[in-house]
Amino acid sequence: MFSAYAARIDPEQPLSGLELGERPEPEAPEGWTTVTVKATSLNHHDLWSLRGVGLSEKALPMILGCDAAGLDEDGNEVVLHSVISDDAWRGDETFDPKRSILSERHQGTFAERVVVPRRNVLSKPPELTFEEAACLPTAWLTAYRMLFTRAGVVPGSTVLVQGAGGGVSTALIVLCAAAGVRVWITSRSVQKRARALELGADRAFEPGERLPERVDAVMETVGAATWSHSIKSLKPGGTVVISGATSGDAPPAELTRIFFLQLSVVGSTMGTRDELERLIRLCAETGVRPVIESVLPLREARQGLEQLAGGETFGKIVFTP
Ligand SMILES: NC(=O)c1ccc[n+]([C@@H]2O[C@H](COP(=O)([O-])OP(=O)(O)OC[C@H]3O[C@@H](n4cnc5c(N)ncnc54)[C@H](OP(=O)(O)O)[C@@H]3O)[C@@H](O)[C@H]2O)c1
Repeated sequence: MFSAYAARIDPEQPLSGLELGERPEPEAPEGWTTVTVKATSLNHHDLWSLRGVGLSEKALPMILGCDAAGLDEDGNEVVLHSVISDDAWRGDETFDPKRSILSERHQGTFAERVVVPRRNVLSKPPELTFEEAACLPTAWLTAYRMLFTRAGVVPGSTVLVQGAGGGVSTALIVLCAAAGVRVWITSRSVQKRARALELGADRAFEPGERLPERVDAVMETVGAATWSHSIKSLKPGGTVVISGATSGDAPPAELTRIFFLQLSVVGSTMGTRDELERLIRLCAETGVRPVIESVLPLREARQGLEQLAGGETFGKIVFTP
């Protein structure tokens, strides 16, 4: 079957390890099932994989892609939960030390078919297209958990989202606006700041710009480039939730400010099957929809990855096999 896969790892030139071509049909082990992929979406995770972050040489060749919406073996429309936990694990799957995300240990979704444990298959409501549903399992689920589970934001709060243009960040903006949360954003690009305001952001700032007042919570995925600003932007007792460090992970810690203002630094990774179900229901019932930058044939995956690596995207890039 046609796939986009990591054949080699190169931390400096990640796209040099990307191959597009035939890979063997996947075989479903006991308790797993085959899903025909109708749409899949690109995440920064796929670039990290090609750089060798979270993917080892001995796992190669590895089909990339964490997200998929498609058809199950009976032709039902489904969405995948990408967090694969151990059979014996009970409770929040993201806390399982043995968990992985599709394309780390098990072959990913940039293919015509993918196999997953049966419990990772959820119904896709008819209100969502395959393309929209394919944006939910990683970026949107991560945003949902950051906001509502890990930060516990409530309507009327003010939240700062650093780096507005990304898949996770655009999800954060839309979810905040839908939940009655005042959302402020930063972005390096004038155009992305304008687009964020159209999406529902209340104010847009340049990176590092002083805010008119301090915020209740900051949503971080940028890392080193914005960390100090995130800490300085919080009210006493405020919370920064971090789920990514795209620009590097060695920023000044800002320890004095953290203890003196009694700030909380909270990590967040992906989300549970239950959270994904609630997110899907929220989208189906409220009209909230993922922000899609473009839909490309899977054969043009290289072009999509180049665009993501160049930091030019606003929202999600979707591939159709
Ligand atoms: N922990 C998890 O489970 C999880 C899940 C999903 C994502 N992540 C991580 O979260 C990060 C974002 O993922 P994504 O898929 O949303 O990526 P993406 O679509 O490529 O977005 C990248 C974002 O980073 C900002 N950015 C990049 N470099 C920057 C720099 N030097 N200075 C300022 N801003 C910069 C961009 O903002 P502007 O261009 O608007 O400035 C953009 O919002 C990645 O590191 C990813 O691995 C983690």
